Amino acid sequence: MVIRTVFAEVVLLIFLGASCASKVTERSGIVIADSDSYGASMFRQNCAICHGKEAYGKMVSGKLVPSLRSGDAAKRSEAEIYNQIANGKLPMPAFKGQLTDTEIKKMVRFVMEDIQGRK
Ligand code: HEC
Repeated sequence: MVIRTVFAEVVLLIFLGASCASKVTERSGIVIADSDSYGASMFRQNCAICHGKEAYGKMVSGKLVPSLRSGDAAKRSEAEIYNQIANGKLPMPAFKGQLTDTEIKKMVRFVMEDIQGRK
């Protein structure tokens, strides 16, 4: 009985996971590889190495770097995302020495609007 319930839950979770994933791909942002915007090219240069070419996250040295499309990243406020990019949070480096303030703000907009489809 217990096993059956667990099985049903697993199936349900897989189903929910799959439907969430497809919703995310439908509604959330651009295909980064297809974009020649400044934000996309900055993303390719500075972020893709860890977050993956399309920002869906990636394993780096045995650690999962989170997706920027959904999950926690999609719940962060503008200020939190700005802070994450400007000041970093280990193992993510701080970008304030490498990018100008204007560029960091562009990356925040890129993450929220272009990648996550938020306004
Ligand atoms: C060296 C690898 C690395 C690079 C390069 C990098 N990140 Fe990250 N990033 C991480 C890791 C690891 C985390 C998770 C940190 C933690 O555990 O809180 C993260 C977290 C984030 C978060 C918060 C996600 C969340 O779930 O709340 C944002 C937003 C983010 N990165 C954006 C960027 C952007 C934009 C760039 C490029 C300008 C970038 N990152 C470059 C490794 C990296």
